[in-house]
Amino acid sequence: MSLPSPSITPVSGSADRTARPLALDNVTLEYPDGGGTVKALDGVSLSVGAGQMVSLVGPSGSGKSSLLAVAATLVRPTSGNVVIDGVSTTDRRDAELTALRREKVGIIFQQPNLLPSLTAVEQLMIGHHLRGMPLKAARSRARELLGLVGLDGSAEKRPHQLSGGQKQRVNIARALMGGPKVLLVDEPTAALDHERSASIVGLLRQVTDEFQVATVMVTHDTEFVPLTDAVAVMRDGGLTAPVRPDVHHSGV
Ligand SMILES: Nc1ncnc2c1ncn2[C@@H]1O[C@H](COP(=O)(O)OP(=O)(O)O)[C@@H](O)[C@H]1O
Ligand SMILES: [Mg+2]
Repeated sequence: MSLPSPSITPVSGSADRTARPLALDNVTLEYPDGGGTVKALDGVSLSVGAGQMVSLVGPSGSGKSSLLAVAATLVRPTSGNVVIDGVSTTDRRDAELTALRREKVGIIFQQPNLLPSLTAVEQLMIGHHLRGMPLKAARSRARELLGLVGLDGSAEKRPHQLSGGQKQRVNIARALMGGPKVLLVDEPTAALDHERSASIVGLLRQVTDEFQVATVMVTHDTEFVPLTDAVAVMRDGGLTAPVRPDVHHSGV
């Protein structure tokens, strides 16, 4: 298997923008703050290729979650552009963004947010069935994905019967249901012990390779950074150059 070349590059040319599943181009995000504004993102450019996994680190309040929210099209940037799988999101209507997000983006937060009354397989099926996927197809895809994340024997269990690590695996499997091109992960291991954290990051690496998604993982745990292709550091809303020597940083 050949590893993808430059893992993370600021978007410079248009070819780059369309070739990579995720591209943020000079993105700024301001929140109202009292009489003024606070800049959560300040001219951030980042692109991630298929099968690449980028760690996003930085102090609390530096803008990591804001970057994921903008990349997920959950929050519109104040300026700049986000391109998902070649689709530029500027000037799209909310309904179009919702459709794009469902189709292309998998989102994994620290808290799995499972519905207490549903079994693992139902957690995966429900959204897709409600949006028109036939029950049988939804069930079969859900079972397949649960197997992939190591939960073959737990498909019929409800959240209270699952460990924290197992719940996070359900969360990951659920994010893969729509066949996303981009996976955005915010501190997936913050609530887990060391061993479980390692296996969750290992699983994210595996699904990034297997499904050729572009993955951005916010982590405070620099120990897991070597499992990823590059590390991007946020400070005061800005992204510093990736620190891995094998990573290109063009356009500077
Ligand atoms: N919804 C919001 N409204 C106002 N300010 C926000 C909001 N979300 C985040 N911020 C501010 O934006 C900055 C970046 O926050 P965040 O992206 O959550 O950082 P991190 O995830 O790195 O801790 C912080 O100053 C934070 O207070
Ligand atoms: Mg955060």
